[in-house]
Amino acid sequence: MSTETQSLPVTPLKAGALVDASAIGAAGAVDKTFLLDQFATHGAILVKGLGLDPQGFVDFTEMFLSDFMEYVGGANNDRGSAFGGSATVLTVTGGNTLGQAIPLHGEMFYTTYRPATLFFCCQRPADENGETTICDGIKLWAALPQEMKDQFEAKKIRYRRIYKDDAWTKVYKTDDLEAVKKICADTGEEFVDHGDGTFDTIHIDTAYADVAAGRAFINSMIVWASREYIAKLDDSQVRWEDGSPIDPQMIMAIHKIAESITENIAWEPGMVALVDNRRVMHGRRAYEDKGRDIIMRLSLETPLAA
Ligand SMILES: [Fe+2]
Repeated sequence: MSTETQSLPVTPLKAGALVDASAIGAAGAVDKTFLLDQFATHGAILVKGLGLDPQGFVDFTEMFLSDFMEYVGGANNDRGSAFGGSATVLTVTGGNTLGQAIPLHGEMFYTTYRPATLFFCCQRPADENGETTICDGIKLWAALPQEMKDQFEAKKIRYRRIYKDDAWTKVYKTDDLEAVKKICADTGEEFVDHGDGTFDTIHIDTAYADVAAGRAFINSMIVWASREYIAKLDDSQVRWEDGSPIDPQMIMAIHKIAESITENIAWEPGMVALVDNRRVMHGRRAYEDKGRDIIMRLSLETPLAA
């Protein structure tokens, strides 16, 4: 392998960029520095041509980072191991949300204990549809009307997760309420104990994040509003910090602006995606093919320089 910096073909997308590594053909031969430069510039990169199987995906991710999260405390309690019993290689295609569209969101933005970096790898795309979506929060912030930006700069937002039954035992992978209280204390969430084994968690945060490349609109507002107002689920609420409602019309307007700058990832088997979860939101188009197989790893860390 040459020690010179590779220059692979890069195609900028509506969000992120596509790197064609077909000429390389092996993950171990990819120039990490080149990929990181593209990742820093675009916030997300899709790399095709490496033909990664689950072990190849593990090796690829560990070129960049060494610590990966187990999925504890997340909203999707049906995530399981996707590879060899590893607790850090997760499937995104199981559970009761099978096939539904998922609106754009930052991963786990309802807690401070959240990944900085997401890695996705396609083992098998859906026959049709089922694309993962990405939207660069920096482009989205720039596209928002000034009066919206003024509101988000003046007011934080409040996420309330409502646990009415024992669903929390799956989310937190424990049946010890004290352990959940400790996680919340460690991550800065308010734990609202109803005294009967049910509780709420509350997290307050800005709707945007400032990263080296600029200010990004990234949060879980759109997906939470869709759960509450469209799916009519009562397990989560997003409000302004003072508890007053965020105008659903405004959230819908943001959704429409975001859609205009959202890229649908055209998955190919073995394709991998790196997503900066401090900047780029992701989601999923609906699909019906039960054979869709996308795996992921999450890390609290970023491979990018501060
Ligand atoms: Fe997600």
